[in-house]
Amino acid sequence: MTARIIGTGSYLPSNVVTNHDLEKIMDTTDEWIKSRTGIGQRHIAIEETTTSMAVEAAKRALADADTTADELDLIVVGTVSADRHFPSTACEIQSALGAVNATAFDINAACSGFLFGLGIANAYFTSGTFKKALIIGAETLSKMMNWDDRSTCVLFGDGAGAAIVEAAEDGIISMTQGSDGAKGGVLSCYNRPVNNPFVKNDTALDYTSMNGQEVFKFAVRTVPEAITKVLGEANVNPDEVKYFVLHQANVRIIESVAKRLNQPMDKFPTNLHMCGNTSAASVPILLDEINKKGMLEKGDKIVLAGFGAGLTWGAALINW
Ligand code: ACO
Repeated sequence: MTARIIGTGSYLPSNVVTNHDLEKIMDTTDEWIKSRTGIGQRHIAIEETTTSMAVEAAKRALADADTTADELDLIVVGTVSADRHFPSTACEIQSALGAVNATAFDINAACSGFLFGLGIANAYFTSGTFKKALIIGAETLSKMMNWDDRSTCVLFGDGAGAAIVEAAEDGIISMTQGSDGAKGGVLSCYNRPVNNPFVKNDTALDYTSMNGQEVFKFAVRTVPEAITKVLGEANVNPDEVKYFVLHQANVRIIESVAKRLNQPMDKFPTNLHMCGNTSAASVPILLDEINKKGMLEKGDKIVLAGFGAGLTWGAALINW
């Protein structure tokens, strides 16, 4: 048995912040952001939280899959921006949905979170442990940005994406995942430091820091390798793939991957001009967008690929 996606949903905060809006609060330009990244605007939470966005995305995915919450036996949430250290976002979602039969937990694989979640569901389905799962990527990265650091804060946005997956013979065709913890320092955000009656620690709260060029080099090397691997394992030619749904970090990364795979850009849907980089949420938000636009037909071969902090990466070739 493998994991097959049977429904998708997403949620984006109503507050839209354009590059021109950012020009008013920091030393940046629409031209710099667009030409370097392809990003034109992002959604930034005002009322929303990571959990509230995830719950809404999950409800929409359940409706799309014609599934009730009590049918779920697994909820996995990829997030690095949970509202609480505990309980997990997944347990909060379980409660909000009334998914009383589900085992629920979060994973931290940054922008690869949705792909890693899919891998976990796939492994549970293969072992026969569970049969129906809700996989979510949800992030409120805006609260983890240093808004005085123009080199990072302009890149990210908030949002949530979800998919319902069920055990099926013909879901995931092939899948790969990987991590390189030795390079973790290129994209990082520290949690609260050790601080107790026995050690004084007045370190200021940390925010996201990134060596953009190192992340860029990692992405343009690793993503085509991962995709080539899953296609090779399945003996599928890239020409047979309808869409490559990649993590939305930078349009130049996506263009580079398309070039390396010798595939046209129109097979690489993008929404980062509208959403920015929403980390773990970006792949399921984009998947939901193309699903709801009616761009997918049963039997289509789709590649999903994520990469991000850790460093982590994952790719899957799936049957729609
Ligand atoms: N507006 C205007 N100027 C800026 C801005 C800004 N927002 N940010 C940086 N600059 C300036 C810098 O200060 C620097 O100025 P200087 O030359 O006077 O020193 C200049 O622009 C160039 O800065 P670089 O950092 O060298 O710019 P680069 O061409 O590398 O582009 C970018 C930066 C867009 C971040 C690029 O490296 C990139 O996209 N990397 C990949 C990042 C990524 O994909 N991250 C997410 C993946 S992982 C995840 O999703 C969690």
